[in-house]
This record gives sequence, structure tokens and C-alpha cells, in this order.
Amino acid sequence: MQDRRVLLGVAGSIAAYKACEVLRMLQREGAEVRVVMTKAAQKFVAPLSFETLSGDEVITELFPSHRVVKTRHVSMAEWAECILVCPATANVVGKVASGVADDFLTTVIMASRAPVVFVPAMDYQMVQNPVYLFNCEKLRQWGYGFVDSEEGVLASGARGPGRLADYDRILDGVKSVLLGSDRLRGVRVLVTAGPTRESLDPVRYLTNRSSGKMGFALAEEAALRGAEVTLVSGPTTLRSFEGVRVRKVQTAEEMAATVEEAWKDHQVLLMAAAVADYRPAERHPQKIKKGDSEWLLPLERTEDVLTKVGKQKGKIVVGFAVETEEGEKRAAQKLKEKGLALICLNNPLEAGAGFDVDTNVVTFIDKKGKTESLPLMPKWKVAQKILDRVEAFLNRG
Ligand code: CTP
Repeated sequence: MQDRRVLLGVAGSIAAYKACEVLRMLQREGAEVRVVMTKAAQKFVAPLSFETLSGDEVITELFPSHRVVKTRHVSMAEWAECILVCPATANVVGKVASGVADDFLTTVIMASRAPVVFVPAMDYQMVQNPVYLFNCEKLRQWGYGFVDSEEGVLASGARGPGRLADYDRILDGVKSVLLGSDRLRGVRVLVTAGPTRESLDPVRYLTNRSSGKMGFALAEEAALRGAEVTLVSGPTTLRSFEGVRVRKVQTAEEMAATVEEAWKDHQVLLMAAAVADYRPAERHPQKIKKGDSEWLLPLERTEDVLTKVGKQKGKIVVGFAVETEEGEKRAAQKLKEKGLALICLNNPLEAGAGFDVDTNVVTFIDKKGKTESLPLMPKWKVAQKILDRVEAFLNRG
């Protein structure tokens, strides 16, 4: 969200303090954030907090007395690429739904063409109130966005719906309106990510260095382009983008079975997972005890997922190749053997490439043998490039 302009509207809920972290989170993503606070919001958090964090004046008044600012609501309405009302109260939702513009926040919403996202937070009785629900429905029909509240412990001490959504969901909501498109609407994309884990005994397993970052970036980018996305992921600590269907697996065998099953109703497969090629020939039910002599571990081959599911007419399969030598030659061979439309080659020994980093250095090789070497770039950008290629394949039919 580099340099994207977000107007953060803070309304009067106890969750207003969380808006400070939301501001920070948007800034970390590269966004420029300006803040508007309602009168009630200022009872919970002082404007100075937001002023310090945003490095800019916080707008609190429609008609400030200290200077003449004629049409600031118009200039802010034009400045904003997205208006995020967080937390949103039943009062603000009700006012916007009824066309009331009696303070800066509601006026700027009325004046702006930017997408608006409400992130409600209120007590459980309020969030279930039929008038509030009716107003939300009205706003949804007009195209206003919502990141719905969650169940949990509320400020009143009660448990129930009404808690401000998790920060990650708020971020995904903003990303969707700022970066989303319809370019892959109606396309079902299957993505795999992460390592697999092959058990040796109840305590030990064999795995690899894959973090899953590339696959998760692909799933996010496909979802942002409107695709229906299923992500089959080995063990990772990453979180998936809102709306992505996640199937968790552990072993290469589970990965193969899950991909095979899901592949039936998907058109595109992006196989970023680092699937183990070997697993222990025997899985011991009890912990293996050490002895005095050396221990040779017999391994057996796992199934190659791509070889199993690839080469289906009308479907697009993108694979990855991790090579530390003879990269292009070996990747081209894999592309052919596995029936891929495109292979993305990377060498983990290169600086900024490979496992557990946020960047990658990738060379594309397509089935016509054409290569394109991309410079070092963040994995989300690599994901964009890969999905641009997928779109081109789809458009070619
Ligand atoms: N792959 C797969 N099933 C496996 C192993 C790998 O589908 N059991 C996929 C990977 O997800 C990747 C591609 O095959 O998209 C190439 O993986 P890579 O590890 O580079 O090569 P391998 O085919 O495993 O061959 P080698 O390890 O000998 O280089």
C-alpha cells in the first residue's frame, strides 16, 4: 500500500484506542494516513495521540474557530483513496445510512467518492439491534464495505458479538478496497505453500527450510484479483488473507491427496510448496532411543504431486524450481517433465532469494522456452508477476 492515502475516521467507542495501532499498521504497509475524530472519540483518546503517530493535524471540527478553512471536507474527500471508519459506532453508521452530515467525519464521507470501510465495535445488544442491522444492510447495498465485528469479551465484561475485528482482518479489508480488482473473478485458483513434515517417531521429523511466504503471497494476490482461492499449506506460522480457504496438511502424502482432490474443481494450480521428496521408510510409534553405533536412516520416495496432477487439458499449472547449480537447464527439464505452463526458478544461495526472506530473485521459463529474469523484489511483487502471466495464459484461452 505504498503511498496510498487512507483517511482514518475514529468514532466514539472504547475500541478507539485500538485505532492507534491500526494507524501504525497502515503506516507499516507504506500508506499515508490522516485522522478525523468525532467529538465522542475524543472522550476516549486524545487527538494528540493520533497527531503524534500520524505526524499531521487531526481534524476534529467541521468549523474550526482558530482559522478560516472553507472547504476542508472537500479537499480531504478528494485526498482520500479510502475512508476507514474504525471503530465505527451505531451512531455513525446510522447517520451515514440516513444521509446525516453533521460533523467532519460524516460530511467527508458524504462528499467523497472514495470507498468507505466501516469496522464496527459496540456492545452485543447494540450490534444486534434491528435498526443498526437495517442501516448496515442499507449501506452494504450502496456498496459501503464492512469488516464485521467478532465474538469475544467486550468492554462491559459481557461475552458476545461486537468486538472490533482483529487487526489483520482490518488490514485485509483496506487492502481489498485499495488494491482489489476483478481480473480473476470467476477463476478458481489452487495454491500450495510451505514445507512438509515427515515423521520419524513421535518426537522427530524431517522437513526443509521453506517458510511458505511465496505461496501465501500468491494466495493473497489471487484473492485480491477476485479469484476463489484454496490454499493447501504445510506447517507455517503465517496467516492467510481474508477469504482464502485454507487446508492444512503435514506430510507429502497428505499434500498430494489434498491437492488431487481439490484440483478437480480448480483451473489454476500454483505449486509453491516445498514438498519432501523422501520420507523415513518406517515411522516408529515410540521414541527411538540412542545406541552406541551410527544410525543409518532408510528413506523412501514420496509421490511427486505435480507429476500426478499435471498435464490436464485446459488447466494452467505453474511450478517452482529450487536449484543451486545449472538452474535454467534443470528448471526447463522440470517444466517439460511436469507439464507446466510456467516454472519459476530461484537459487536459495543468491542474496535475497529463497527461504524465509521477504524477497526473491526469480527467473521465469515458459513452455516455449522463453526466459525472463526478474531483479530482486519482494515476494508480493513476484506474486503479482506470476499472476500477470496466469492472466495472460487465461486470456489466450
Ligand atoms: N514438487 C511436487 N511434489 C514433490 C516435490 C516437488 O509437486 N514431491 C513440485 C514443487 O512444488 C515444485 C516443483 O515440483 O513446484 C519442483 O520442485 P523442486 O524441489 O525444485 O524439484 P524436484 O522435482 O523435487 O526435484 P529435485 O529435488 O531433484 O531438484
